[in-house]
Amino acid sequence: MTDLPPQDLADLPQTLAECAIAVLNTADGRAKTALSKRCAEAWFERRAAGDPMPVGQGAPPDTPARPDKPELLNPRDMPRRRPGSPAGRIALLHAVAHIELNAVDLHWDIIARFTDVRMPIGFYDDWVKSAAEESKHFNLVCDVLESLGSSYGALPAHAFMWRAALDTKDDFLGRLAVVPMVLEARGLDVTPGMIELFRKAGIENAVAALETIYAEEVGHVAYGSKWFHFLCGRHDEDPKDAFHRLVQRYFHGALKPPFNEEKRAEAGIPPDFYWPLTEEHRENTAGFDTNA
Ligand SMILES: [Fe+2]
Ligand SMILES: [Fe+2]
Repeated sequence: MTDLPPQDLADLPQTLAECAIAVLNTADGRAKTALSKRCAEAWFERRAAGDPMPVGQGAPPDTPARPDKPELLNPRDMPRRRPGSPAGRIALLHAVAHIELNAVDLHWDIIARFTDVRMPIGFYDDWVKSAAEESKHFNLVCDVLESLGSSYGALPAHAFMWRAALDTKDDFLGRLAVVPMVLEARGLDVTPGMIELFRKAGIENAVAALETIYAEEVGHVAYGSKWFHFLCGRHDEDPKDAFHRLVQRYFHGALKPPFNEEKRAEAGIPPDFYWPLTEEHRENTAGFDTNA
């Protein structure tokens, strides 16, 4: 059963941090995303009324509540399916639903976790809006899965999706570097290929869902870049150097081309941020070092 969130503003948590924690502590995906959307509406309703909800403070859980299903597996143990087959397409959508659910929690987690850092109210506007969009993405993909006779939880899912959150739980700038500017930016690279795959298969509701996701994810990466640059400026740090240092510290492995350079540019991430973090660049640089 899915519990609907309270409709009355007075019944919702009264600070943004408490809203975030309530979302994080809701296990069921549909219930979590319904509460997330309601909290976002409440935030913007009170902003419009000139009575902003206080940001408040709180201690978010290290890991968010999750439903009993899907079973979470080490990616090595995930069953492989041909991407062009019906089962492969369902597995791909299931993986996207899992990413979107984690994204909902990641957006609320960054709101609640770093409240000790004073931020302009626009920071919260951006993250609350994105959290509501992630909630919509999860539901859109779940609807497609259900239209194809499956559902979120019917297949196993990636166990390490929350790792980046744990790795950066004490490092606000590290969180911005790794989550929106690496993981969500990766979504911009791979989504056009997925849209093509579902277009070829004639699955129009999947195409429409992925096109919405693709359009809105540019904004999420842009918010990440905007606030990353803001915090670097506050601390007089060079953003490119800080990005390289933090991604090498917190992200496991190299960044993988091909990159969607156009959408990355639109989101405020220039090529000299990501190319030096690829395997190719590291190999070339190692070669130069040897010959020097
Ligand atoms: Fe998303
Ligand atoms: Fe996103």
